[in-house]
Amino acid sequence: MTQLDTPAPSAAPVRPDTTDAWWRDAVIYQIYPRSFADANGDGIGDLPGITAHLRHVADLGVDAVWLSPFYTSPMADAGYDVADYRDIDPLFGSLADADALIAEANRLDLKVIVDLVPNHTSDEHAWFQAALTAGPGSPERARFLFRDGRGPDGAEPPNNWKSVFGGPGWTRITEPDGTPGQWYLHLFDRKQPDLDWSNPEVRAEFLDVLRFWLDRGVAGFRVDVAHGLVKADGLPDWEGEHGLLDGTEAPMWDQDGVHAVYRDWRAVLDEYPGDRVLVAESWAPTLARLANYIRPDEMHTAFNFDFLETHWLAPELRTSITDSLAATAAVGAPTTWVLSNHDVVRHPTRLALPQVGKRPNGIRSVDPQPDEELGLRRGRAATLMMLALPGSAYVYQGEELGLPEHTTLPDGARQDPTYFRNGGEVAGRDGCRVPIPWIADAPAFGFNTTGQAWLPQPESFRRYAVDQQSGVAGSTLEMYRSALRLRKELRIGRGDLTWIDGADTVAFTTTAPGGTLTVLANLGASPVPVPEGKVLIASGELVDGQVPTDVTVWVLS
Ligand code: GLC
Repeated sequence: MTQLDTPAPSAAPVRPDTTDAWWRDAVIYQIYPRSFADANGDGIGDLPGITAHLRHVADLGVDAVWLSPFYTSPMADAGYDVADYRDIDPLFGSLADADALIAEANRLDLKVIVDLVPNHTSDEHAWFQAALTAGPGSPERARFLFRDGRGPDGAEPPNNWKSVFGGPGWTRITEPDGTPGQWYLHLFDRKQPDLDWSNPEVRAEFLDVLRFWLDRGVAGFRVDVAHGLVKADGLPDWEGEHGLLDGTEAPMWDQDGVHAVYRDWRAVLDEYPGDRVLVAESWAPTLARLANYIRPDEMHTAFNFDFLETHWLAPELRTSITDSLAATAAVGAPTTWVLSNHDVVRHPTRLALPQVGKRPNGIRSVDPQPDEELGLRRGRAATLMMLALPGSAYVYQGEELGLPEHTTLPDGARQDPTYFRNGGEVAGRDGCRVPIPWIADAPAFGFNTTGQAWLPQPESFRRYAVDQQSGVAGSTLEMYRSALRLRKELRIGRGDLTWIDGADTVAFTTTAPGGTLTVLANLGASPVPVPEGKVLIASGELVDGQVPTDVTVWVLS
């Protein structure tokens, strides 16, 4: 090879320095558009409703909002089935409403993160409709995972994969000529066909979608099912668990090839000013595998579901926190902390359940009912623990009110495909998606003015309404406001954590730019002394200089 033939070493891309980037210690508030605020009164929340209520979010003292999907969708999975990535569903409003929302958020100093759903489209997406008519072997089919069936007449699915929501992971189509045809893969509902990410056209399309929203001024993307895009070659059968959370070596999850996708995306984000961010929803099997998604040239942060899944037991929590911090530090990324979202039982309710085994997927009225008072007490203690940890944190709409899960939702009102795909045996996620209460004595508790609600609200929501808590000392809302203010003032998210021994406590000091804080959560049966210093905030009443069971305190040393 002559010197001329030698390819020039590719210039190392100039990456923006992220040391001071906002997302390293940001608090991000998740808005679930269907259930936040409903301006047109049809019972489903919408973008104008969000815009009109952004002041509440800004007053909490968070840095950004993340909006669950608002795109054009037949709503088979509450919008996680996208028919057009570049438009807004009429239920939620219009692109002009999205622009107005972003403008108002920016005016209030809030950044806007949108949800991107790249693993699958809706079956009503133009691409899938074209694939159905184009026939086997066509470029249209090659954007999805169409395969011939097994068995002599192709009547058996191509492999044994199941859907995360229950039931089979494949659906057979009827070809345009009326004959039984190929099968397509859907790791979720049959109305959510998986895209084929080995297809360059799919990759190019999403780079363009990223730019579409970046150009509109969004601060970044929460990436749905980030660990699912690339499947193992040959789509081999899998005898193990299929759940989103169960995958260890499963051929549909966390394949090494997925990382090239995020390197390409990162390069696009780096072209834009203002520290745009990619957040992975990746249920990787270990914290080390999760850290792969947030290497310096990939995404910026990833949801830390290990912490969310941890029982209310001091040793388990200490281990999860230690391991999370170590795993992310190893790749130079911050850790994130999250206790609730639109997919899990709200944390005050979850923490009142027996603290053993796997968390349930929803709670039905026939199930044992968790103790609401115990749950709120633990929920508040867990929140104060979380907000003191170094890194970035998430707050799911309504948790600032201490809102519990709706555990007695009538089965006839349920909407989550999980419920239907499991023959009504699994409650699913509706209980954490109920419209939130703003005003106790108003129709639908102030969600709108008509009293309609796509999921019925329990009577108990009345006492959690914003107007019942705002300005009330000791309320959960005021606890969130104070904690978030202190967190910002002292820059607690930039702290450096050192453990303090204690069998039944989660106790540490954190050295933050604004001061040194001692944090103690008492998970044991007996009270423990309040640490030395000035008490800044506590999640429950301190009694005779002691921190009672299920209370967290912050003390300035
Ligand atoms: C993610 C979303 C969940 C959705 C699923 C399929 O896990 O958080 O709500 O059902 O992906 O898109």
